Amino acid sequence: MTTAVASAAYPFLAEGGLGANGIYVGTDLHAEGSFTFDPFSMYGKVEGFTNPNLLLAGVIGQGKSALAKSLALRSIAFGHRVYVPSDPKGEWTAVAQALGGSSIVLGPGLQGRLNPLDAPPRPPTVPEVEWEGEVRKRRLLLLGSLARTVLGRDLLPREHTVLDVALAAAATRAATSGRPPLLGDVAHALADGPSLDLAGGQLAGRLGEAARDLAHAMRRLVFGDLAGLFDAPSTTAFDPYQPMLCIDLSRLDGSDDTALVLAMTCASAWMEGALTDPHGGKRWVIYDEAWRLMRHPALLLRMAAQWKLSRRLGIANALIAHRLSDLLAAGDAGSQSRALAEGLLADCSTRVIYRQEADQVHAARTLLGLTSVEAAALPHLNRGRGLWKVAGRSFVVQHQLHPAELQLFDTDARMAA
Ligand SMILES: Nc1ncnc2c1ncn2[C@@H]1O[C@H](COP(=O)(O)OP(=O)(O)OP(=O)(O)O)[C@@H](O)[C@H]1O
Ligand SMILES: [Mg+2]
Repeated sequence: MTTAVASAAYPFLAEGGLGANGIYVGTDLHAEGSFTFDPFSMYGKVEGFTNPNLLLAGVIGQGKSALAKSLALRSIAFGHRVYVPSDPKGEWTAVAQALGGSSIVLGPGLQGRLNPLDAPPRPPTVPEVEWEGEVRKRRLLLLGSLARTVLGRDLLPREHTVLDVALAAAATRAATSGRPPLLGDVAHALADGPSLDLAGGQLAGRLGEAARDLAHAMRRLVFGDLAGLFDAPSTTAFDPYQPMLCIDLSRLDGSDDTALVLAMTCASAWMEGALTDPHGGKRWVIYDEAWRLMRHPALLLRMAAQWKLSRRLGIANALIAHRLSDLLAAGDAGSQSRALAEGLLADCSTRVIYRQEADQVHAARTLLGLTSVEAAALPHLNRGRGLWKVAGRSFVVQHQLHPAELQLFDTDARMAA
């Protein structure tokens, strides 16, 4: 009989896998065969696979990070590079070092500094004027997210203007000493009401007044608990030829959530800026513990914009979350934040769902369009076992770890000790 007839007559046939290309992940439990995955080779070839990005969700301790680390480690054998822009638990440093890459550790009392306003090197194909606009856009996006995170509210239209004017003033001030602007320059410009009023001219009335809240927000990064870390020339130059680079923020662990989120934002912005070379080859950017960022609408906005850019650059982003309802928490149905979160999800052609609590199954089902059988299986998945939804096809895959990987990726060691 034909395949079409067979699948109707015998509906229990398993999917045939995604082909033999790519890296080995583990066992496809229904087909009882190897499961391999290569988002770069599927992109543009497989129908419905519109982007190489991956969403990975599951309750704690199920092996999400272990899967991401395996994808990273095994991709390096294919010549891909791996970047982890913010690692709040400090669990990627050992992996980066074992693979010949490096880790930048940031924290109070340490030497490392990153300037998130660094201008990335201009790709030779992009004209200078266009590039200046691009750099300015990135910087404004970053300043806007930082301010919104500290203030806990949307910015007013006047405040966007103020940021724009203050950034221009900061850039001019920095240019006289021949260096890129720092957050401190922006804070300085925001505090200088009369100059802002002057620069705003006819346009916006008294900009100095509108800058007051922003000046306080920026002050936190310059004088607050993160003082110095992101307000000084970068101590590390970005080396795009390393196989792996991560930014370890675990030393900020004692800080409050807002401080950590601000640090994650600055670190990501710095690294993403450095990844703008369209000839940089195939790259993974892995956002472990991304659920912390997803609760902040301002950061979702920045991420959504960043993902649009990275698609042009051929970068695969992997977003690691706990619950799918974290995405829904971004805003009410119909709101801008909610639309952003849903857009981010739509921008992940591959969704890997590890175990979910029973109360999360409904959200998972509606968001991902799961069948009732798939949804019912979610609370019963074991460690390392996930439902893979790839461009409309489903697989249940047991991730297989090599003993050396198991040792390198172990996050239970501290518990066991
Ligand atoms: N496929 C697997 N086979 C065997 N052990 C695994 C597998 N995946 C993960 N583990 C082990 O489970 C432990 C927890 O894994 P991991 O840290 O990746 O979980 P996680 O989902 O990222 O947790 P968290 O949400 O806390 O970050 C690790 O010590 C790891 O060695
Ligand atoms: Mg983890």
